Amino acid sequence: MRDVNQFTVTDAVKASFADRSNERLAFLLDKLVEHLHDYARETNLTQQEWLAALNFLYDCGQISTPDRHEFILLSDVLGFSAAVDLVNTKGGGTEISNLGPFYLDDAPEKPLGADLAGDRPGVVLLVSGVVKDTLGNPLPGATVDTWQADGSGMYPIQSPEQDKYDLRGKFTTDEQGRYYYTTLLPKAYTVPYDGPVGKLLKATNRHAWRTKHLHFISHAPGMRGLITELFFEGDEYLDSDAVFGVRKSLIRDPKRVGKDEELAFELDRRPDARIEFDIVLAPA
Ligand code: BEZ
Ligand code: FE
Repeated sequence: MRDVNQFTVTDAVKASFADRSNERLAFLLDKLVEHLHDYARETNLTQQEWLAALNFLYDCGQISTPDRHEFILLSDVLGFSAAVDLVNTKGGGTEISNLGPFYLDDAPEKPLGADLAGDRPGVVLLVSGVVKDTLGNPLPGATVDTWQADGSGMYPIQSPEQDKYDLRGKFTTDEQGRYYYTTLLPKAYTVPYDGPVGKLLKATNRHAWRTKHLHFISHAPGMRGLITELFFEGDEYLDSDAVFGVRKSLIRDPKRVGKDEELAFELDRRPDARIEFDIVLAPA
């Protein structure tokens, strides 16, 4: 290993991971080393640039807390999270989209037809759909966990005046595989941009807006769990979402609910608009 040059160093590093007993780890490290070294060679990376990049990562670590994971945000704005989501979307299943930082795994269970909007001002939206398998069979007893921003673009968890469990709930599908509830039409909001990732966005003249969306996690026995989002036709950031979460198949156009329109669901609250979003789970 005395005569490494810019090309042979790659194999030398790969060979240094001699213990291949964890095959997957060895493979992931091989590829990481190859791509990192290729990056240095292709860009003729200077030592100043190398140090700036590492200092940037250091800053990401410095600003991170248990509630703020700047490296995930970095992965998001680089489209790395989206690439991983797309790689893991299985044929026939609903497409995966960004989890984001505001999921709580202990959201309250809510009965079908419940209202999440409370007394917040805004458009009350009926969200309904069927959870099914890739053959179209409904999945009774599936869970649909949802969370979202309010009508001013804030997650209740971000504001000390609100209950962190507001605008979220866990539903269980009925014997027809249906879920339905009313909630508030959310608003677009920005990803945090007061840290190093924000500096990166500013340096490249990129905005920090996420197009408005609802988050969902769905599970059913024997099926792959799914993390996804629903987006709204017409939103101004649909084509420039800061974290590349949008997929055409996940965009819906809310329809106004007519004054005398009959709705197929028993609801705690009469909605102003409605949207349908079926969730298709791939086999485990
Ligand atoms: C969100 O969708 O909640 C989100 C995603 C990425 C960064 C920040 C927020
Ligand atoms: Fe979100």
